[in-house]
Amino acid sequence: MSLPAIAIANLAFRWRPADAFCLKLANATVDAGKSLFLHGPSGSGKSTLLNLIGGVLLPERGSVSLLGQPLGEMSASRRDAFRADHLGFIFQQFNLIPYLSVLDNVLLPCRFSARRARRVSEPAAEARRLLAGLDLDPGLLARPAAELSVGQQQRVAAARALIGRPEILIADEPTSALDAGRQVAFVELLLSEARQAGSAVVFVSHDLRLAAHFDQSLALAA
Ligand SMILES: Nc1ncnc2c1ncn2[C@@H]1O[C@H](COP(=O)(O)OP(=O)(O)OP(=O)(O)O)[C@@H](O)[C@H]1O
Ligand SMILES: [Mg+2]
Repeated sequence: MSLPAIAIANLAFRWRPADAFCLKLANATVDAGKSLFLHGPSGSGKSTLLNLIGGVLLPERGSVSLLGQPLGEMSASRRDAFRADHLGFIFQQFNLIPYLSVLDNVLLPCRFSARRARRVSEPAAEARRLLAGLDLDPGLLARPAAELSVGQQQRVAAARALIGRPEILIADEPTSALDAGRQVAFVELLLSEARQAGSAVVFVSHDLRLAAHFDQSLALAA
């Protein structure tokens, strides 16, 4: 049996020692290639949980293991390298580099991770394939990211997260700026690419109508 892509056990996190725990989660796993829909009211800790899964934050109690490796046992630099090698992250505000072209933005993970670069035979061709699969007009590839619409930037952020087939794909409310029809289309394209790559997906959204597209759902309480 293969290890889960993400395994969370007895997690408790708070921002300051004097605060109450802002997040408690007994157990959650996401198997390789499976998808989890994460929802809950604003302030319930969704983004905090994504940062714990990404090893950007560390829990006070409990553990997060990715691909069988406990993040809490890695040094900070090892965690950074592990993240670059194995995680694709789509941020809510996309975090594209505004002056870089669409193509160069998508290629960034291959610059930061030799492993991601090795997993694609021709990075530029793979970037083009992903962007076409995500329905981005090929005429935009040389444009600076700053000149794209929000929906176009979202596709670039998704392609950047997917390049080099990371085992884990994390998406923080990437659809909130889109209308309902485009949200569903985007989720379907993203999940289809993730499935082909065998990536486990954690996807945050307020929009419960999207939950049906995912293998499992997890609700965080306020
Ligand atoms: N850097 C921080 N320092 C201190 N507290 C924080 C920090 N970031 C978030 N919090 C607090 O942690 C709690 C959870 O925040 P989080 O951003 O995870 O919520 P969320 O579920 O993602 O909300 P939203 O749906 O609005 O994005 C909130 O009460 C928030 O105020
Ligand atoms: Mg959030």
